[in-house]
Amino acid sequence: MAEPSSRGRVGLLGGGVIGGGWAARFALNGYDVNLFDPDPEASRKVDEVMTNARRAWEQLTTAPLPAEGQVSIVGSPEDAAANAEFVQESAPENESVKRSLLAAASRTAAPEVVIASSTSGLLPSVLQADMTFPERMVVGHPFNPVYLLPLVEVCPGAQTSDEAVKRASDMYVGLGMRPLVLQHEIDGFVADRLLEALWREALGLVADGVATVEQVDDAIRFGAGLRWASMGTMLTYRIAGGEGGMRHFMAQFGPALQWPWSRLTDVPELTDDLLDRIEQQSDAQAGGVGVRDLERLRDDCVVAVMRGLRDVGYASGEVLAEYEVLLRQRAEASA
Ligand SMILES: NC(=O)c1ccc[n+]([C@@H]2O[C@H](COP(=O)([O-])OP(=O)(O)OC[C@H]3O[C@@H](n4cnc5c(N)ncnc54)[C@H](O)[C@@H]3O)[C@@H](O)[C@H]2O)c1
Repeated sequence: MAEPSSRGRVGLLGGGVIGGGWAARFALNGYDVNLFDPDPEASRKVDEVMTNARRAWEQLTTAPLPAEGQVSIVGSPEDAAANAEFVQESAPENESVKRSLLAAASRTAAPEVVIASSTSGLLPSVLQADMTFPERMVVGHPFNPVYLLPLVEVCPGAQTSDEAVKRASDMYVGLGMRPLVLQHEIDGFVADRLLEALWREALGLVADGVATVEQVDDAIRFGAGLRWASMGTMLTYRIAGGEGGMRHFMAQFGPALQWPWSRLTDVPELTDDLLDRIEQQSDAQAGGVGVRDLERLRDDCVVAVMRGLRDVGYASGEVLAEYEVLLRQRAEASA
């Protein structure tokens, strides 16, 4: 049985890949969404993300969901922030665009309203510089697809209050997410630093002709990727140390860190030739399947992993199980 009414209203700035994902996560949690995006196609694109998100959630959980919130496209950042209890900015990764949007929203939103940015790596101290009441600004860095992946990095800037970090984290937990709160800001935060190291190596291997883009993916998905979804990197290596644990693992593989196995910041130049090669190999890998179908395939796989981990009660499966308890409590309270 669905809850009868909206759980509140949020304002979103930007409705692309990430903003559309936020729209879906908020709306599926019963929030009405006012979204500003100057792209005339924004409404269609957000609708398509919503369709995929509903489909994924039907497979993800049988817990009682609230009545879906209404997503409305509005004409300005001020309209999005007006009467919102939370604002999430997901505009292009451009400092001046983000600063002016966040400042506009901060002039309209009530002082206690948390304003979060989805930035992948810009520093919150810089982004909050032009805001009124900058202490309510945090980075809330999500992962694609935002409506399925629980992780959100919460990072305060120099002026951010502890209260804002707590309120943002509470909001995200209520949406079924797992906040990772960083104590100090750092370019790229934690997850993108890890991902970029891998991305750099992947491009280097393709540029050197060592592997195709498909072989790079096979190297992950048939191997370490299966472990990462549950154990991450550090716990995986502890187990790989056998009975000797981490100390034994470090003794065995630590010396290799001094060898020139990885390219680190020796990034291949993104020449036309390399970009053409990557594009052609990537098109061949996709095999003519369009992006929405690829998203559905990805969602089916993510849902399968999360449901499997829920049965084990571990990692993202534990987050899902806790969220389902919350959904049942909310449904009982509203009944
Ligand atoms: N794509 C990812 O995997 C990913 C993951 C985590 C975080 N992020 C971050 O999320 C943010 C958005 O990235 P994305 O991948 O959704 O990009 P995107 O290009 O898919 O979407 C950006 C959207 O912002 C809109 N836009 C442009 N100018 C605007 C303005 N002045 N006001 C409001 N909207 C405006 C565009 O029309 C577009 O719809 C970036 O900061 C990015 O770093 C991206």
